[in-house]
Amino acid sequence: MGELDQPRAFVVGYPIGHSRSPLIHRHWLDQAGLAGSYHPLAVAPAELRAFVAALKDGSSGFVGGNVTIPHKEAMLELVDEIDDTARQIGAVNTLWLDNGRLMAGNTDSHGFAANLDESAPGWTSGKTAVILGAGGASRSVIHALLSRGFQSIRLANRTLERARALSDQFGDRISAHGIDQLQKLLKGADLFVNTTSMGMGGSAVPDIDFTIMAETALVTDIVYTPLETPILALARRQGLTTVDGLGMLLHQAVPGFARWFGQTPRVTPELRQLIIGAMEKGS
Ligand code: ATR
Repeated sequence: MGELDQPRAFVVGYPIGHSRSPLIHRHWLDQAGLAGSYHPLAVAPAELRAFVAALKDGSSGFVGGNVTIPHKEAMLELVDEIDDTARQIGAVNTLWLDNGRLMAGNTDSHGFAANLDESAPGWTSGKTAVILGAGGASRSVIHALLSRGFQSIRLANRTLERARALSDQFGDRISAHGIDQLQKLLKGADLFVNTTSMGMGGSAVPDIDFTIMAETALVTDIVYTPLETPILALARRQGLTTVDGLGMLLHQAVPGFARWFGQTPRVTPELRQLIIGAMEKGS
């Protein structure tokens, strides 16, 4: 197969230098010995429409790709079809062509659930969760918890209105609260998820008492820089089971790779180590 005939995929963002996706997908291509390539593309917001037009008419030669900041919402208006998950989350992170139609999905919800399936089997036996944060990442987590059968999701956010907007959209299993209620909300809960940037880069977090959660409770953070965030460190010191957020990044990449390159890849300790190594080098 000539190089131009090989399936080519991309990650599009602006800027794009920070994306770990090329490392992940190229690792899988290498491991499987597959012909194909994966390209980081910096496309400014003003150029996005032209970029999508070239995708649809085939002139760019891509089979699909990932979408990252700041294009995840704007892409909703440009594609031919949006799957239910991306529509509910209100953002797109994966594109693929199907008979010349540009299809859009969102695999962050899958990534979140698959990370816990792998690292904390049985996590869905709990039915009550507390989520901190009501931004884009929170929407993916809500989607995952609802589809995995959580009955009560207590959503706490600094700006109460944003939490209310999400509970209005996602229905009566979600209740909205101010961040000042967080400690009370944790009582008896089975799962706590931080979806805010609090603790990112090791920044300070409020002093939370996780010991009032259910005995088998789990604490997870979608932030993975550092791998053990201050929130996870606090929970671990209090004796709770914790799961870091790196697995979500790795697992959200699986469905896209399978669509573009025709083989379902595996999230292995080796891949995890590769990304940790790159994070440590700051590359
Ligand atoms: P993302 O797409 O990563 O979720 P976002 O949409 O900007 O990003 O949402 C960021 C979330 O982190 C919000 O819930 C935000 O709270 P507000 O809605 O009140 O802005 C929350 N957040 C960010 N910094 C915070 C801080 N220092 N304290 C509390 N919450 C914070």
